[in-house]
Amino acid sequence: MEVIIKQTYEEMSRAAAHDVARLLNTKPNAVLGMATGSTPLGMYQELVRMHREEGLDFSQVTTFNLDEYVSLPVSHPQSYHYFMQENFFKHVNVPKQNTYIPSGTTSNYQAFCAWFERRIEECGGIDLQILGIGSDGHVAFNEPGSSLSSRTRLKTLAKQTIEDNARFFERREDVPIYAITMGVGTILEARRLLLVANGKNKAWACAAAIEGPITGMVTASALQMHARAKVFLDDAAASELKMREYYDWIEERRPGAPQV
Ligand code: PGA
Repeated sequence: MEVIIKQTYEEMSRAAAHDVARLLNTKPNAVLGMATGSTPLGMYQELVRMHREEGLDFSQVTTFNLDEYVSLPVSHPQSYHYFMQENFFKHVNVPKQNTYIPSGTTSNYQAFCAWFERRIEECGGIDLQILGIGSDGHVAFNEPGSSLSSRTRLKTLAKQTIEDNARFFERREDVPIYAITMGVGTILEARRLLLVANGKNKAWACAAAIEGPITGMVTASALQMHARAKVFLDDAAASELKMREYYDWIEERRPGAPQV
């Protein structure tokens, strides 16, 4: 796992966005896995800036989102459909028909999940999956106790996640209890993983995911099993890492490293 620590949220967001842009420059028809939440906002803003000012092109890109709340209509301001539209899609040129987000309002969740998995495969698999991390160590909505081989399915959110996400809703009771989410197994099949995390409230989860044992109790720890996982952190999110100095040492020496 590559651990890249930047001083600030802005620097972290820019570094992550540049990684995505590098992929698009070498593979313009890449399949991107998208994440929602407050963390990737800065990264999306930088990608939008690169689209506007530097011509970063999304016209051949396909996207698959990680998750969606069950029961929220797509027009609900807290739905992930709405989030993606407002914060990314309406500012760039991804063709609408190339964007896939799990449906929180399907009448048949099982069939929808199977179809979603099939669509990923039919599109050639995900080239780069963007991820956030929950304060309980989840990736997407794979809450503690999820199978590390899980596939896209319905999940009951953990109380901690409901608590964390209540800030986006008027009342805590408004936070949906269920979600549809890609599984850990689905995520691990992406060719590259890129996780972003910032802030002190993510420090424990980041340390557990990066340096702790691989466990279904911290589903982000499954990234340790992936050959091409990169984690971008700000200083606060990195504050509980035991090997911090070593990660910085590697980064400082990267420019002089033999090319592979
Ligand atoms: P956040 O959510 O970016 O809003 O902190 C991350 C997550 O729960 O995966």
